[in-house]
Amino acid sequence: MESKHGWPPDLTRQRVVVTGAASGMGAAIAEAFARVGARVALADLAEETVTAKVGALAAEGCDVLALAGDVADRGTVESWAQTIAERWGAATALVNCAGIWSDVPFADLALDEWQRVIDVNLTGTFHTCQLIGGQMRSGGGGSIVNFSSLSGVKGFKRRAAYTVTKHGVIGLTRVLAHEWGEDGVRVNAVGPGRFDTALAADKYADPAVARKFLERVPAGRIAPADEMVGTIFFLASEMSSYVTGHVLFVDGGFTAV
Ligand SMILES: NC(=O)c1ccc[n+]([C@@H]2O[C@H](COP(=O)([O-])OP(=O)(O)OC[C@H]3O[C@@H](n4cnc5c(N)ncnc54)[C@H](O)[C@@H]3O)[C@@H](O)[C@H]2O)c1
Repeated sequence: MESKHGWPPDLTRQRVVVTGAASGMGAAIAEAFARVGARVALADLAEETVTAKVGALAAEGCDVLALAGDVADRGTVESWAQTIAERWGAATALVNCAGIWSDVPFADLALDEWQRVIDVNLTGTFHTCQLIGGQMRSGGGGSIVNFSSLSGVKGFKRRAAYTVTKHGVIGLTRVLAHEWGEDGVRVNAVGPGRFDTALAADKYADPAVARKFLERVPAGRIAPADEMVGTIFFLASEMSSYVTGHVLFVDGGFTAV
């Protein structure tokens, strides 16, 4: 069968939505897509930061859009979806990077914290997949990349809330890959190992904690935020046109040992 996929894939034709785009991996991914010429919507709770980033990228000549608000809020994500559709039509790629961390022994985990972590990490992904990813189904297809974690397949101590959300993200990814495959929407997840971002920075500032973690990483180092960009370019574009329902661990080999 002749391939309909040109090579190399043209990233400049992408319309990309990145949540969590004010910081860390989301910021690195959004900026990289914008600088190769894709149209990019940067969504984040940190309104000032995301607006400043969009201003700076626009000044470079990038076609970008700021979407401020809480991904856990259905009405907010509805307005994001409407704004994107009016400006560019359906997105071709959705990168669900927004997330929060929780590091508490289960016996002490407050219901409020449990609920908030689920609301942001899991229900936020539900909202964006349904409302922004859903537009891809009638818009010619696309690619969704959800952010899981090593905690998506492991049971580290003190991570109950975070872990259930990251396991849940993998489950949602698989079901959606199945349900939306016929519509040309691919759905994959990434499982980052330790990346050098604001998330969990306090915890790993302790040299003993950092050393213990690195003993289990074949690559022997943590990664800078922009080391996630290549993986997302791959999963979000036609480079991975026959990859769906997959979880790709970007972890310096942690899950291999
Ligand atoms: N850094 C790591 O080592 C690591 C490891 C595994 C998984 N992850 C996952 O990667 C993703 C990105 O994390 P990061 O390390 O770049 O973190 P980060 O803290 O640097 O960035 C997270 C971004 O999400 C935004 N955000 C948080 N809550 C939000 C909400 N309710 N609505 C909208 N935006 C919100 C924050 O404002 C921030 O800009 C997260 O889903 C995280 O769980 C990170």
